[in-house]
Amino acid sequence: MPDSVTIALSKGRILEETLPLLQPLGIEPLEDPESSRNLVLPTTDPNVRLIIVRATDVPTYVAYGGADLGVAGKDVLMEQGGHGLYEPIDLGIARCRLMVAGRPDARLDGRRIRVATKFVNITRRHFAAQGRQVDLIKLYGSMELAPLVGLADAIVDLVDTGNTLRANGLAPLEQIADISSRLVVNKASMKLSHGTIRPLLERIEAVVAKQQNR
Ligand code: ATP
Ligand code: PRP
Repeated sequence: MPDSVTIALSKGRILEETLPLLQPLGIEPLEDPESSRNLVLPTTDPNVRLIIVRATDVPTYVAYGGADLGVAGKDVLMEQGGHGLYEPIDLGIARCRLMVAGRPDARLDGRRIRVATKFVNITRRHFAAQGRQVDLIKLYGSMELAPLVGLADAIVDLVDTGNTLRANGLAPLEQIADISSRLVVNKASMKLSHGTIRPLLERIEAVVAKQQNR
């Protein structure tokens, strides 16, 4: 009997953009994941099920074996370290940039500044690599507000269209990284279920390559 495979996904853009990559492999959820309250979803492939978790929890589920595979933003992997995971495929989905942003006239050089972000590890590394000292303020969302109310001189956040920054009178100031979502794989699953996981990865890679060449 073939081994069964559990894939961890988060609701929202990762789910929306991952399902079209799984559909050509005959893997489609049997109920609508966005409206269902079930967190374990069987699929049209009896050997594959999806589990629905928070985006920031995907690496944890996969690293501890709660799922064999998962899809996680590179931002999340950079922030958390990606320990205990293989990261074999850049899926090229949920593309955006991780940026330092602030008021358009913000001066970030020459003094110690305060930076608000949910990406404290990435932010610390970014400024330390340039020999710049910053005070970090950890936030869990709505980072764009921080410079407006004087909480911080700058923020580090994800930027796609730039609409959220613009709507709040902010501008991108420095790019930290290009971001896309990655397939992550539990290390033990890769070794123990070699005959199941490897062929699945190859099929996913082929779909990604085909979609990127369109
Ligand atoms: P959590 O639920 O854990 O707080 P989240 O709300 O950040 O996570 P999403 O907004 O669905 O979850 O983002 C998931 C991933 O999508 C992010 O980690 C990032 O890689 C990518 N992403 C976030 N915002 C954008 C955007 N505006 N455009 C494109 N990709 C994005
Ligand atoms: C992300 C991010 C920014 C916004 C950037 O938030 O934290 O606030 O997207 O995207 P933009 O440059 O296209 O405005 P969130 O996940 O809430 O985005 P959403 O508004 O698309 O849900």
